[in-house]
Amino acid sequence: MKTLELHLHLEGAAPPAFIRGLAAEKHADLTGVFDEQGNYAYDGFDGFLRCYEAATSVLQTPQDYARLLAEVLERSAGQGVIYTELFVSPEFCGGGDLPAWRDHLAAMTEVAGKARAQGIDSRAILTAIRHFGPDRARKTAICVAETAGDWVTGFGMGGAETVGRATDYAWSFDCAREAGLGLTCHAGEWAGPDSIRDALALGCTRIGHGVGAIEDPALVRDLADKGVTLEVCPGSNVALGVYPSWSAHPIARLADAGVRVTVSTDDPPFFHTTMRREYDRLADAFGWGDTEFAQINRWAADAAFCDPATRDRLLKEFP
Ligand code: ADE
Ligand code: ZN
Repeated sequence: MKTLELHLHLEGAAPPAFIRGLAAEKHADLTGVFDEQGNYAYDGFDGFLRCYEAATSVLQTPQDYARLLAEVLERSAGQGVIYTELFVSPEFCGGGDLPAWRDHLAAMTEVAGKARAQGIDSRAILTAIRHFGPDRARKTAICVAETAGDWVTGFGMGGAETVGRATDYAWSFDCAREAGLGLTCHAGEWAGPDSIRDALALGCTRIGHGVGAIEDPALVRDLADKGVTLEVCPGSNVALGVYPSWSAHPIARLADAGVRVTVSTDDPPFFHTTMRREYDRLADAFGWGDTEFAQINRWAADAAFCDPATRDRLLKEFP
């Protein structure tokens, strides 16, 4: 089955073997990052963020990022993904410095162009990291405003949602909006409805996760009425303990309430998931089939941070 994916962190999609290979090349010590089976090892969301940042520390040069992107796009294509939006953090690639970011971007754009010719289209959402604070987010916003174009089409924010408020980052979101970028923000993953309202106040048309909206029927109605799209990552939520099981996950209740939900993997090797596994679990838990899957992919195409011709092409895949 063909699918679209709107919420995939590039560094979080790095297979453990890829990171181990880079660590060996660079003689980097990644003690504690992997378990005995060679999988990422962490406990809880804070542990996940620490593990993620330690693994990411070996991704340094433009070439490292180009190799990672090629591997991630190849894996996504193998899962039937025909269009993917990747969260890429200049705070990791190039340390937030614009000239260094340009070098990383040039290497990745070349890879994305080759992958497009081979059947998987992609865009980049430059992503601030909330727990790194508003000053570093501004540097990311400047990178996005300066390099917006065919591949860089969105601005977002991930990281620890309980640190400060999203509105503390208004300068960065304003800067990105004025540069014509699509806006999304992780919210309603680790905090409730107010966190989602803050993200909407920043002008976001999409919310990363957003599942916490289920606690507030008025917000659910508002999301449905405004056509806000949620980038839902159910396998991530279950793996991190946001919900105890697939059957307890609110994605089907949100969809039934008219909210535009989409499905993504977030950081697939960390959560032992793939796009096919997400769809299989949704089929098992909620009886979803071709009708529901076509609908979520049409919603994803509608909300994609892409040009109108690409959107039309994607919509035609899900009649
Ligand atoms: N960065 C990578 N994965 C994330 C998640 N699930 N929540 C917040 N920030 C992230
Ligand atoms: Zn995410």
